[in-house]
Amino acid sequence: MTPPAMTLKHYLQFSDLTADEYAWLFQRAAIIKKKFKAYEKHHSLADRTLAMIFEKASTRTRVSFEAGMYQLGGSVVHLTTGDSQLGRAEPIEDSAKVISRMVDLVMIRTFGQDKIELFARHSRVPVINGLTNEFHPCQILADIFTYIEHRGAIAGKTVAWVGDGNNMANTWLQAAELLGFTVHLSTPSGYEVDQAIAGIRGTDSYKVFKDPMQACQGADLVTTDVWTSMGYEAENEARKKAFADWCVDEEMMRAAKPDALFMHCLPAHRGEEVAAEVIDGPQSVVWDEAENRMHAQKALMEYLLLGRVG
Ligand code: CP
Ligand code: NVA
Repeated sequence: MTPPAMTLKHYLQFSDLTADEYAWLFQRAAIIKKKFKAYEKHHSLADRTLAMIFEKASTRTRVSFEAGMYQLGGSVVHLTTGDSQLGRAEPIEDSAKVISRMVDLVMIRTFGQDKIELFARHSRVPVINGLTNEFHPCQILADIFTYIEHRGAIAGKTVAWVGDGNNMANTWLQAAELLGFTVHLSTPSGYEVDQAIAGIRGTDSYKVFKDPMQACQGADLVTTDVWTSMGYEAENEARKKAFADWCVDEEMMRAAKPDALFMHCLPAHRGEEVAAEVIDGPQSVVWDEAENRMHAQKALMEYLLLGRVG
């Protein structure tokens, strides 16, 4: 178990950490990645256990947390709604009290942000958001780490968000406010970001554009996500119609800066939110982005359990 000396710190949304803590995490992730590439052992979390709770499907989040924890010398327990008492209405409070007596760290992918917050309030150990309807902080942590690897500091830069005002868009807005860059947001009408849900303080760090082409103008990074997020499948047909003009294609990429990057958290639907020529083209860094989930989350888990080590 985690020694009680360490202050309990959760990662439930991007704004849970400061700009200074992010600066630490990005440089720590780079060190951890370098060691991984060199096959150098890095067992900073030896004998620690991570519980992963999935109430929605996952490929990247599951593999990156599970492989990452083993590489840090620890182990994992994988739970889903279907194979645990979570799916049979055991109260979240009780589940949190029990699970957090047996493991050192908990990662949760669920629906409402209120559920993960309730779990965290009753947990003895750090809780990490592996995606909720409202936020996906681990993804933006990896995305910004990827941007820095390719282009250097993100402060002062412009990120174009083309698509749904969803968990990814909300998290980009929190990151922009905290790390000093601007988001150009273009969403179809009816799918706008709700500033109260995004949990940002002001409007200085983002600009809203009706036309996605205009949002891309002068952008350093163009990014998008699926038209229909998990949990919203019943809206699929209506969304396909509403989002038809929000496909990141080569014309949109030409509106951005010539050295602009393209990112997508994946899974992607070629021909819907992104053209195959873009996601498989020279400006796309989606495979680095996916891989960096693991390196960034290793730095995050280490930080939440041990603080600034190394
Ligand atoms: N980007 C992401 O979170 O992917 P998974 O849904 O596969 O975990
Ligand atoms: N916005 C998407 C992201 C998937 C990684 C969803 O919530 O389904």
